[in-house]
Amino acid sequence: MPGTFHRQVSNFSPYTFQLFFEGERFLSPYGKRFVPMGRSIRIKAVSLFRLKYKKEMIQIEEKFMSRCIELARHGAGHTAPNPMVGAVVVLGNKIIGEGYHRRCGEAHAEVNAISSVRDERLLRESTLYVSLEPCSHYGKTPPCAELIIRKGIPRVVVGCLDPFPEVAGRGIRMLREAGIEVVTGVMEHEARALNEAFMLFQTEKRPFVTLKWAESADGFIDAFRSSPDVAPIQFSTPETQVRVHKLRAESAAILVGTRTALLDNPSLSVRHWSGKSPVRLVIDRELKLPEHYHLFDGTVPTLVYTSRLKKDPSGKVEYVQLDFKVSIVQQILQSLYERKLNSLLVEGGATLLQQFLASGYWDRAVIERSPMCLFEGVKAPAIPSGVVHSERFGGHDYLVYTHSRKDN
Ligand SMILES: NC(=O)c1ccc[n+]([C@@H]2O[C@H](COP(=O)([O-])OP(=O)(O)OC[C@H]3O[C@@H](n4cnc5c(N)ncnc54)[C@H](OP(=O)(O)O)[C@@H]3O)[C@@H](O)[C@H]2O)c1
Repeated sequence: MPGTFHRQVSNFSPYTFQLFFEGERFLSPYGKRFVPMGRSIRIKAVSLFRLKYKKEMIQIEEKFMSRCIELARHGAGHTAPNPMVGAVVVLGNKIIGEGYHRRCGEAHAEVNAISSVRDERLLRESTLYVSLEPCSHYGKTPPCAELIIRKGIPRVVVGCLDPFPEVAGRGIRMLREAGIEVVTGVMEHEARALNEAFMLFQTEKRPFVTLKWAESADGFIDAFRSSPDVAPIQFSTPETQVRVHKLRAESAAILVGTRTALLDNPSLSVRHWSGKSPVRLVIDRELKLPEHYHLFDGTVPTLVYTSRLKKDPSGKVEYVQLDFKVSIVQQILQSLYERKLNSLLVEGGATLLQQFLASGYWDRAVIERSPMCLFEGVKAPAIPSGVVHSERFGGHDYLVYTHSRKDN
């Protein structure tokens, strides 16, 4: 009856099992008699025990790594160009310290987690969980790997490796060379997804590009307009506007086309969510945008992509010359890479969005679909790949597409 045997063993605690195993005897499920344990049964039992132990360990590791990821998210909108990172210090299955990277230039997650532990001596018996590989170089702060070694932490569990060239596996190596047990790849997918923009910026040397627009149920992004005196169609509701502003706060830069800037006079700032306004970018080939527009109010750093040479004596607006005879998308992305702006939100209009879609340089498209119909107007861009996520919020549909590299 192997089935009965398996069930019985898998219900044992590791300790109970060990007691039986040590005597090389097994309690028969049919009577209270000890029977000698055959070699094959013993091997099976040992592997079952290992499997169960491993499963339990994975559950424990994942529980603490989830907490790291949850903590890391508190830094959203404040850490760029740095990644969001969370860390916890665990002793005997209990969290005794935790922290996250709050803002670029401030202490890293490991430093905050370690300094939150009341009794420093406990660190010598604890495990440090961290969602990203500890750094090994002197940046704005000293290396975290050095701190971990100095504090005598014997075990470190890491979510994913840091692709940043000055770290890239060196942090892990430093810890291992110091005799620290290091476990890597716990919830690796989730830990990488947390910092999609940061990862892509390091590996592909360009910002993570999100395309965003709101459209009517019949696929228009605005009515036909030729003057800023006619207000644009308002698809967003106060509820859905909060989402737009959250997306802005999570982006390092935000871009609009010339006609959108001319007709809408947008400020592109973060008002309905907490966080920093992204650097504003606008295309203005012929420099025809009026200087009294919100984009030139000097409240947020602003870049104008143009074919002309111009300098703003006040330094509030930067004019970047592009070659408009070739695709401007790669030139824009290059200019953002040079300025260490690792995520870009393209907020329209249709012509500009379509240029990004055609170039293949986009990673995600977020579309808010209102139940309203326009029957005619500016046609919404056409998306080539399938929806990966959709939800209803505030009476509107939200469609999120991700760009598979195979689509190119
Ligand atoms: N519902 C929404 O989410 C949403 C969002 C944004 C905008 N909108 C609406 O969309 C409308 C504007 O869209 P649109 O398609 O007409 O204009 P757009 O994409 O905002 O701007 C396009 C203009 O940018 C300039 N440009 C120069 N080089 C370019 C290039 N390589 N790629 C793209 N643009 C380049 C061109 O103007 P020049 O020829 O003058 O250089 C071009 O006509 C407005 O009605 C606005 O309210 C709706």
